[in-house]
Amino acid sequence: MNVEADLLHLLSLRYSVGPKYLAPPGPTAEQWAQAATLTLRAPDHGGLRPFRFVVVGDEQRAALSGLFATGAQQRGQGDDEVERARARAFNGPGLVALIAQVRDDVPDVPPHEQWLCVGAALMNFMNALHLMGLGAKALSGASVSDTAVRAAFCGPGETLASWIVAGRATRTAHPKAGVTASPVISGWQVDQA
Ligand SMILES: Cc1cc2nc3c(=O)[nH]c(=O)nc-3n(C[C@H](O)[C@H](O)[C@H](O)COP(=O)(O)O)c2cc1C
Repeated sequence: MNVEADLLHLLSLRYSVGPKYLAPPGPTAEQWAQAATLTLRAPDHGGLRPFRFVVVGDEQRAALSGLFATGAQQRGQGDDEVERARARAFNGPGLVALIAQVRDDVPDVPPHEQWLCVGAALMNFMNALHLMGLGAKALSGASVSDTAVRAAFCGPGETLASWIVAGRATRTAHPKAGVTASPVISGWQVDQA
């Protein structure tokens, strides 16, 4: 097989790997940086770069767990759920936050185009990790909307769009059960009527 065919085949094998099936080590600083560099290849109308990634270091997980617990308390969760929220901050050997900054004041670039760019950046980021031999998954959950969590990660006009966990996959990734391939491309059917 040539390199092109190999790469296409490899990309076709990217499936999400949840925290339960991710073991250390997480991505190195160089691997995070390389993945972030590839996000700059996302189509970006107007060059707004409406996204950025923030790495949460191992030594920062305790602080994050405090924020998760506070958020759960503020949502009125019981003690058990608060403890589960606290534990969730330690999920995944590597953790980054994807922050979006989508503006509604750009004449030629409406918000939906900027969100497409953010999504494309996420995809390139995850594909890069996959090609490095790492497993990863995008996760949001209630924490992305927590006031304290958002304040800790986002500036004015920014949204905490997703967490991304990454590490060594401990099992072969596979499509979600029940998901079957369906055609997402067709020729244009011109209405003859
Ligand atoms: C922004 C974003 C947030 C997501 N949040 C969650 C989540 O909180 N929980 C979850 O199980 N899946 C979540 N997903 C979906 C998974 O990341 C994943 O795409 C899905 O399980 C399908 O797996 P696949 O990527 O292997 O096709 C999210 C996806 C995106 C793009």
